[in-house]
Amino acid sequence: MKIMLPADSKMHSKAFTFGVATASFQIEGAVDYRLPCIWDTFCATPGKIRDNSDGSQACEHVKLWREDVDLIESLGVDAYRLSISWPRVMHKDGSLNPQGVAFYTDLLDELNRRGIKTFVTLYHWDLPQHIEDNGGWLNRETAYLFADYADKITQAFGDRVYSYATFNEPFCSSYLGYEIGVHAPGLATKAFGRQSAHHLLLAHGLAMKVLQKNSPNSQNGIVLNFTPCYSATDSAADVEAASKADQYFNQWYIKPLFDRCYPEIINDFATEDMPVIEQGDFDIIAQPIDFLGINFYTRAVYKADPATGFSQIDMVDKPKTDIGWEIYPQSFTDLLTSLHALYPLPPIYITENGAAMDDKLIEGKVDDQDRLEYYNAHLNAVNNAIEQGVNVVGYFAWSLMDNFEWAEGYLKRFGIVYVDYETQKRTLKASAHAYRDFINARK
Ligand code: FCB
Repeated sequence: MKIMLPADSKMHSKAFTFGVATASFQIEGAVDYRLPCIWDTFCATPGKIRDNSDGSQACEHVKLWREDVDLIESLGVDAYRLSISWPRVMHKDGSLNPQGVAFYTDLLDELNRRGIKTFVTLYHWDLPQHIEDNGGWLNRETAYLFADYADKITQAFGDRVYSYATFNEPFCSSYLGYEIGVHAPGLATKAFGRQSAHHLLLAHGLAMKVLQKNSPNSQNGIVLNFTPCYSATDSAADVEAASKADQYFNQWYIKPLFDRCYPEIINDFATEDMPVIEQGDFDIIAQPIDFLGINFYTRAVYKADPATGFSQIDMVDKPKTDIGWEIYPQSFTDLLTSLHALYPLPPIYITENGAAMDDKLIEGKVDDQDRLEYYNAHLNAVNNAIEQGVNVVGYFAWSLMDNFEWAEGYLKRFGIVYVDYETQKRTLKASAHAYRDFINARK
């Protein structure tokens, strides 16, 4: 199978950016020369990671990065999205760690030498543990520490970076990490979820000011994830349930960026669940952004629930990926057109999209036609949104290679490149060949 878009698709143009994405904790390994982070601690807590694994080896990217740059180049992509490990580039006293900085400057230099655009995310979940010990994202001070880290690292990187994102998926950090505890640091109260979300957004705003000052020539923004919410039936109660879920899980993170407030579901909160918001916070949060990064994987369907307002229903018998996420490409188009209608959006990059599949390496090959079908359908979904007027200018496959999939450990494979974790051998899957062929056929 091939990736096929309509002949007149704007995505055939070289002006459209295609890339692959990774994140520091998921690929780097080399924990010895960085500070411990909340994911090291979480992995060491029994019962948190499905295969009891951790990030100490992962894809050994710190050791193998030159080969990985070759691999990226071999795919013919325009861009590579990576994240910086805060605990690798900063010491506890808040000064830069030259060894960590040198790792990334060498990597960025090599990518630039090969004409691969560098998309750098400053925070993809690996908070230094000593900052968590002081309250982590529940402590307002952490937002200021983040801005300081952003200030120092962007000065060190100079003009090496094409695009900076402050955060990857603040929803996951706050909701999964502080509200239901399935991600690091594993805390679980509603009030913590809302407070950490507010501090993450505040940190985004503070860091945006720093980025625009230190790196005015790069494309600076934020990466948000969205799981569009549909109602189980047309009943008024279910429709309202889906709307509330959407406000809580999706709009919560984008509305303050443009509208300087949280969605109205905040009025339903008990007093003890209300985040502390200081005067002027929304003005800090709503900094102009050069681009919005959107991560999309799946949708969710909700019904009314008298106890909680809304509850998600399992879409039994619907096609799903190996991680159990429903495959529903139409919701990608719906998402993009609805955000376009709701907000005055800057250009959009799809910063992550992809699928976990039950890959089999047979005689040196991985014939992942299922993943390839997912990519084909979702690239077409993006194209449909573009045809309806949404300004999408780039797309990144998640992920360059199989890696540490958070609470799932190494059990779920999202790569277009297969990683044998014993030998660290990388093998292009059929999806990687098809992605490469599609990209290289562009005019
Ligand atoms: C996203 C994360 C990314 C990866 C994919 C599957 O939520 O940003 O690191 O784990 O999911």
